[in-house]
Amino acid sequence: MSAAKKPVEFSQPESFEFTKPNLKKAKDELAKYPKDRAQSAVMPLLDLAQRQHDGWLPRAAMDVVADMLDMAPMRVYEVASFYTMYNLQPVGRHHVRICTTTPCWLRGSDEIVKTCEKELGLQMGETSKDGKFTLEEVECAGACRNAPVIQLGDDYYEDLTPEATKKLLVKLKKEK
Ligand code: FES
Repeated sequence: MSAAKKPVEFSQPESFEFTKPNLKKAKDELAKYPKDRAQSAVMPLLDLAQRQHDGWLPRAAMDVVADMLDMAPMRVYEVASFYTMYNLQPVGRHHVRICTTTPCWLRGSDEIVKTCEKELGLQMGETSKDGKFTLEEVECAGACRNAPVIQLGDDYYEDLTPEATKKLLVKLKKEK
């Protein structure tokens, strides 16, 4: 069972609006589907909204997506809360997702977890006070062949050792 992100205190923005370029991207996405299947675009539209909103999805953004797709807001919330790729609360600028499912576990993910916790001074599911890091345990990241694996934003770091993990985190910590 993976450790979810720990709840943090935050406020929901009153409203959300896609930027002009993102609205165009959303429309391009919608154009890929027949009109009576527009709801199939819910995942890419949520992803777009999340990228625009510092890596997390406020309720107002989900409502905008629901409105665009003519869906009940609850159905959009269900999608967003089911997939771990969506964050329903703020996350650190570096969202470190460590896979701990069996293939990664057999190849040493426990050591990777320990290294991350020690290097970042965080427990699984926590976000650092400066908002720079969130540490999260996730289920199979789909790269078992190169276990153990960390997903960092859109990038995957594979065949990790504790040393390689430490090197990666030290580099990120130094970033301004
Ligand atoms: Fe870790 Fe599949 S089990 S990537």
